[in-house]
Amino acid sequence: MTKDKTILRALAGETLQTPPIWMMRQAGRYLPEYRATRAQAGDFLSLCYNSDLATEVTLQPIRRFGFDAAILFADILLIPQALGADLWFVTGEGPRLSTITNEADFARLGDPADVHETLGPIYQTLRNLTGVLPPETTLIGFAGAPWTVATYMTAGRGTPDQGPAHALKDTNPALFDALMDRLTLATIEYLSAQIEAGAEVIKLFDSWAGSLKGEDFDRYAIAPTKEIITALKARHPDTPIIAFPREAGEKYIGFAGKTGADCVAIDNSVSADWVAEHVQVDGCVQGNLASSHMVTGGEALARETRRIVDALSNGPHIFNLGHGITPDADPDNVQRMVDAVRGG
Ligand code: CP3
Repeated sequence: MTKDKTILRALAGETLQTPPIWMMRQAGRYLPEYRATRAQAGDFLSLCYNSDLATEVTLQPIRRFGFDAAILFADILLIPQALGADLWFVTGEGPRLSTITNEADFARLGDPADVHETLGPIYQTLRNLTGVLPPETTLIGFAGAPWTVATYMTAGRGTPDQGPAHALKDTNPALFDALMDRLTLATIEYLSAQIEAGAEVIKLFDSWAGSLKGEDFDRYAIAPTKEIITALKARHPDTPIIAFPREAGEKYIGFAGKTGADCVAIDNSVSADWVAEHVQVDGCVQGNLASSHMVTGGEALARETRRIVDALSNGPHIFNLGHGITPDADPDNVQRMVDAVRGG
């Protein structure tokens, strides 16, 4: 492990004078060079499974902004596809999947150990990247957390309130638990293979964790995250893990301790001062600039960026957005954010 990599130092608990920085969805449609490569690939999924082009789009934001981490170009919905679900993307709308609503649907899903056949090109992208990334740049692999992936598998698409997943867990908990177990085991397989292919850090995206209340949060957000982290740490004890239970609110408190995560990524619904007091006390945090600043820019962008850097300057911190950058963002605002973090 190269300790010159600032992200690895922050994840090991070091407080750095300038926080390392990368950005959720840093390879994406706000970049003209991404749009060109995506057109060359034909469509989004073909881009994910084309290792050479996926390597290229992973590198694009590193070349342009010199971020401290590159995140593998892929998607959290490749796991359901590798388990046998149909997956396609409707331009301008988002993902569509065949749904899991009953035992017969579930019985058609494949074995967790068999996901590698479909996911081979993803591992190849990581192997490509280990050869070409600048030595100071950390390579991040990722997967969706089981709850978030299950919300898409039960609804067949994105939903505002994750209604179908809540309905299935409440009406048929045995089936829902079986789905969660299958996803948990497949995710362990997938992430272990990513680490073996060169991922130096793993991030688990639980984008819809905020819709889980009370005991449901423990059962469907904390427990599967802990199971994945425990299994990965047994196989790969030196690989740090970032967990992102988005919109967890007060449930961010203690999340790292309960799951074994090395870092908790924070959305922008909570203030950086609150994060410093309640979450950073347990270790590294990542976040939490509102991604809307990448669209609006100006003084507010510089001011908010500095405010977050200052509020989290007394402990380990990786600067990031609170959620992914949107297609309407201006790349010049991304550069302004990087300058504000590094030059301020
Ligand atoms: O640059 C990176 O961050 C790496 C690649 C990455 C993508 N998706 C590429 C992508 C990562 C880490 C993701 C994670 C992801 N995918 C999440 C979790 C993070 C979050 O945003 O909450 C989720 C929920 C998904 C599922 C997904 N993929 C949706 C709902 C959509 C459609 C909506 C949208 O933003 O377009 C996608 C498509 C997607 N994934 C795109 C990209 C670059 C856009 C596809 C395109 O080029 O048209």
